[in-house]
Amino acid sequence: MGWSVHLRAGSSRGDVRGCTVQLPGMTGSLSRRALRLISQLPSVCSFPGSRQQAFGRLLPAGRAPSSGSAVGPSSPSLITTPIFYVNATPHIGHLYSAVLADALYRAKILLGHEAKFATGTDEHGLKIQQAAEAAAEDPLEFCSRVSKEFRTLFQQSLVSYTDYIRTTEERHKNAVQHFWCVLRDEGYLYEGTYEGWYSVPDETFLSDSQVVERKDAYGNLIKVSMESGHKVEWTKEENYMFRLSEFRPMLLDWLKKNPFAICPEKFHHLVVHWLQEEIPDLSVSRQRNRLKWGIPVPEDSTQTIYVWLDALVNYLTVAGYPEDHNPWCSGVHHIVGKDILKFHAIYWPAFLMAAGLQLPKQIYVHSHWTVNGQKMSKSLGNVIDPMERFSVYTADGFRYFLLRQGVPETDCDYYDDKVLKVLNAELADALGGLLNRCTGTRMNPDQVYSPFSTHCFPKRPYMGHSSRATIEDYKMIQLVEQLPLDVEHCFEKFQIYKALEAINFCIRLTNGFFQRHAPWKLDRKNAEDCCWLDTVLHVTLECLRVYGILLQPVIPALANKLLSRLAVGPQERGWRHLNFLAKYHNSICPFEGRKLGPDSGLLFNRLERTDKRQSKAQGRC
Ligand code: MSP
Repeated sequence: MGWSVHLRAGSSRGDVRGCTVQLPGMTGSLSRRALRLISQLPSVCSFPGSRQQAFGRLLPAGRAPSSGSAVGPSSPSLITTPIFYVNATPHIGHLYSAVLADALYRAKILLGHEAKFATGTDEHGLKIQQAAEAAAEDPLEFCSRVSKEFRTLFQQSLVSYTDYIRTTEERHKNAVQHFWCVLRDEGYLYEGTYEGWYSVPDETFLSDSQVVERKDAYGNLIKVSMESGHKVEWTKEENYMFRLSEFRPMLLDWLKKNPFAICPEKFHHLVVHWLQEEIPDLSVSRQRNRLKWGIPVPEDSTQTIYVWLDALVNYLTVAGYPEDHNPWCSGVHHIVGKDILKFHAIYWPAFLMAAGLQLPKQIYVHSHWTVNGQKMSKSLGNVIDPMERFSVYTADGFRYFLLRQGVPETDCDYYDDKVLKVLNAELADALGGLLNRCTGTRMNPDQVYSPFSTHCFPKRPYMGHSSRATIEDYKMIQLVEQLPLDVEHCFEKFQIYKALEAINFCIRLTNGFFQRHAPWKLDRKNAEDCCWLDTVLHVTLECLRVYGILLQPVIPALANKLLSRLAVGPQERGWRHLNFLAKYHNSICPFEGRKLGPDSGLLFNRLERTDKRQSKAQGRC
């Protein structure tokens, strides 16, 4: 990782509030302020900010900032995606961040929690200024156009945000300027001269050790960021610095006390590893004559606020900062890609500590998608446009693929053949096939939620009983019963792919159950057979109802189709309505005997490979 700033000594112009000047190069000894902060660490809140009360935003005295246990299950959650740069149109990487967040949000709601879900667009900075110039468009019009593309994508992919923030909105400008004034008044900003590398595409400062030489397309030697490969340029300007270096001990302490603050674990360790080294102070403004497209520094019209400080504050803006953010600040969950971990796990908590605000409860980090083994890039022409894919796979199909195959710990490779295989096997055949089997008119001529017989399927298998239920059936029931809890835990651990793996495993078991008992071979005229047939159908329908409910966060439209077919009403789809196989447990099943919902066709159509589709269209098949 890299530490962004290296100030050249002798450049400081003194603290804005007239505090002692502290040059960032002086890392050997800690300032008095830092020592004061550290001495506060074990007690009260682990972060400073003497004006805490003024904003009424902190934890009660004696409570350490928490990323987990301190917040009870009833505290509301705020789920956020990163806000997306508008210099490029949306691709699958962006959609992945958004559907991960959407699935977590939907799961929270289904579990009965209070939650909000925010996404939006990041519209300031040099990168956007240059992109608008290149497009010969007015910057705000340019931003509005691309921001709308993201919004459309999210609407089409059923990303159910409750707030869509644009950093060019007035409410955000107010929040950022207010936040700036708090940092300034707390003494965490000072004026200095920044001299170092800057990467416009990453909007980040880089040290010498983070930069390497490369040849560009014309054979010229250029310097690029080691991490992103983006070209960097040398920058020297006077601007405001944030005393980031003082926060290293407190950041480490926060991570030590909250081992699940950053998830998956590997990213937690990575941040701890980064924090083993000194961290320089951070330049948090740019000269206005270089960067016009941004929020001006309050009371200094020559400076624009650094785009990352501006962007990160969006999380407070959506919480209602500076007025009504309190209730939403104790349960913040950020979903971020690994490329922006440093900003969220170091800069952001440090800013929040400085402003006396609560730290995020959790930062969920995901890795990246490559395409056919290569990094996605415009120049390679391999950028996957999700909307284009929706016409083939459907939005739900695409969401399912991303969440089923995306493993946050590691990069994942996208190729269309893989999408096709996963969707055909799991949505069309396993899930859709199972629904067909128990709702088709041949198997279920009365089109009802068939009755369950405890005589045919007694609670405990015992020797000598005439029940046809097998040990495998009992095992399946046990696993489906346990499934909601397993799924909930997987969601908590940001392992949605594992939740889907578990659901898919149970779907296969239920298909096996159906196959094993071959109800199509039973004789409806024989009372015993009929009773068993209904019971097999009932068990299958109950399993499907559980899968439908649990799959709602991932494939909301398909789950709706499935549950509607099973005649499960909109008010009966929460986690608390699961109550799997009530009759088996000798209680009342509200679904038994209900007329099934209308048949709206196959749950998910099998997909064909593009070459086959093309030759069919040309009449060659
Ligand atoms: N604007 C900043 C975020 C500011 S949040 C305060 C930004 N925007 S971005 O548009 O570049 O990226 C948004 C998200 O998309 C990030 O989480 C990033 O990791 C994700 N992805 C971009 N490319 C990606 C892949 N190829 N694969 C997966 N996700 C990646 O960063």
